[in-house]
Formats: sequence, structure tokens, C-alpha cells
Amino acid sequence: MTAAPVNRLSLAVVVIGSFGLLGIAIAAAQTSPQGDPNRGAVVAAQGVPKAGVPACAQCHAYTGSSDGSGAFPRLAGQSAYYLGKELADYAGGVRSNAIMTPIAKGLGATERADVAAYYAEVKGPFLPLADVSSALFKRGEQLAKVGDESKGLQSCDNCHGPGGAGQPPAIPYLAGQYGPYIAMQLRMWQRGYRRNSDDAMAYIAKRLSDGDIDAVAAYFQQVRRADQLAQDSRK
Ligand code: HEC
Ligand code: HEC
Repeated sequence: MTAAPVNRLSLAVVVIGSFGLLGIAIAAAQTSPQGDPNRGAVVAAQGVPKAGVPACAQCHAYTGSSDGSGAFPRLAGQSAYYLGKELADYAGGVRSNAIMTPIAKGLGATERADVAAYYAEVKGPFLPLADVSSALFKRGEQLAKVGDESKGLQSCDNCHGPGGAGQPPAIPYLAGQYGPYIAMQLRMWQRGYRRNSDDAMAYIAKRLSDGDIDAVAAYFQQVRRADQLAQDSRK
């Protein structure tokens, strides 16, 4: 397979951009290549030795939960479209990272689609993590649910869905994602190392202070557990 489908997709997204997120979602669903999760499981577990690609499981775990350090994002349950697009973005240079760029370049388009299909399907556990301070959580919750008019910021949940649960296929979940990873990505957009969402995410990241970033990252790491605890206490 060549990179042609991806290029066509980017063009489609630009053309239909004025119709908003629904248009992006429909275009994405129609043009993303179908991967095979069984073949993808082999890449996750073993990598692609002949291309020098290490096993994804080394850092992201076979379950897609990664580890509690927050250095590696959770992949489990993100849409196959989103995961495949991020791999293509690393390979193409719109997103750069010393570890992931060579790995993505070593994968063929079919292998990228396969491993994306695999991690979209796995149900990796949410690991137990330390609670964040309630002041940080409250500021993060405000940004996530309401936004901040004084900074021209709409709420994160407007795009990332209620509770940060994601709006597949194009918009990833943030709920339960690791705080240090979320904070790092916002700083990457601020500094121009991640350029795959200039209109939405770079614009937003540049309006967040350092304290805002720490708050919203801490909030999303914990929000899933907070919902769970609230549900448990109602039982
Ligand atoms: C040596 C550790 C390591 C290995 C092995 C590794 N990754 Fe990663 N991965 C990372 C790091 C670190 C990041 C965050 C990079 C950044 O900031 O952009 C990442 C990010 C990603 C992302 C972006 C997720 C998101 O939410 O945007 C995807 C997709 C991904 N990796 C897939 C894979 C796949 C598939 C493999 C195996 C073929 C793999 N990774 C192997 C360390 C690793
Ligand atoms: C206008 C829509 C929109 C709003 C509002 C928005 N986002 Fe996003 N966000 C996106 C899109 C689209 C992506 C996927 C970018 C890509 O294709 O890589 C994204 C991706 C992200 C990612 C990367 C996740 C990953 O797995 O790598 C983070 C972190 C993030 N957003 C945080 C936030 C936070 C925090 C807020 C609120 C302060 C916010 N976003 C508000 C559209 C939005």
C-alpha cells in the first residue's frame, strides 16, 4: 500500500473543514484502511525484527495500558483511525518524537493499520494512581467542562466529548490518559513539535498557562476514577 489514502484523507478533511467535526468524523470513517487486529497483535508482542521495530509491548504493554509512569500514553481503546493517523503523522514528520518517529517509519502502512486495529480493540486496565490535590482537580474540571471565557477558551469536552470520553474516530479520549503525557503533549503543541492540529490544539495549548496545563492534565488522569467513585457511593 502507498501513502495515497492518507493524503486523500487530509485533503478531504481540509475541504470539508467548514462543515465541522461531524464532517471530519464521517470522512475519517469512510477512508481509513481496515487493519487486521490478529496480525496487529503480533506486531504489538514482537515488533517487526527485520525492520528494527521493537515490540510495542515494551513500552505500551500488550494490554495497551502502558505503565503508571505517565511517560508512555495509554493506547487501549483509542479508535483505530486515530492510532493509525498518529503513526502516519510520526512517519511523515508532522509529529516528532525521538522514540516514535523511527518506530513509525519502520512500519509499513498495512502494519500500522493492523497494530492500530489491535490496540483499538484491547481493554487494558486503568492502573491505580495517586490522587491529585482537589484545588488542581477543580481548576482542571472548570477548563474541561466550562472553558475560560477570559482566555477565549471553549471547554475541552466540547470536542473531546462528555467527561473527556472521546469523539471517535477523529478525537481521542482524555479520560484516564496519563497526566504527565497529556501535559507533555500540550507543551509540544505550544512549542511546535506536534503540528497535527494547528487550528484546534495548537491554538488552545498556546492559551493555557503552565498551571492550567498541570490542572487539566491532573483532572483528566483522574476523572474516570472520580466518576467511578461517585457511582460506587450512590450504590
Ligand atoms: C521504547 C518505548 C516505545 C516503544 C517500543 C513504542 N512506543 Fe509508542 N510511544 C512511546 C512514547 C514515549 C510516546 C509519546 C511520544 C510523544 O510525545 O509524541 C508514544 C506514543 C505513541 C502513540 C501516540 C498515542 C497518542 O495518544 O497520540 C502511538 C499511536 C504509539 N506510540 C504506538 C506505538 C506502536 C504501534 C508501537 C509498536 C510498533 C510503539 N508505539 C512502540 C514509546 C514507545
Ligand atoms: C475544537 C476542538 C477541540 C477542543 C476544544 C479541544 N481539543 Fe484536544 N484535540 C482535538 C483534536 C482534533 C485532537 C486530535 C489531534 C490529532 O489529530 O492528533 C486533540 C487531541 C488532544 C490531545 C492529544 C491526546 C493524545 O492521545 O495524544 C490532548 C492531550 C488534548 N487534545 C487536550 C485537550 C485539552 C486539555 C483541551 C481543553 C483545554 C482540549 N484538548 C480541547 C480537538 C480539540
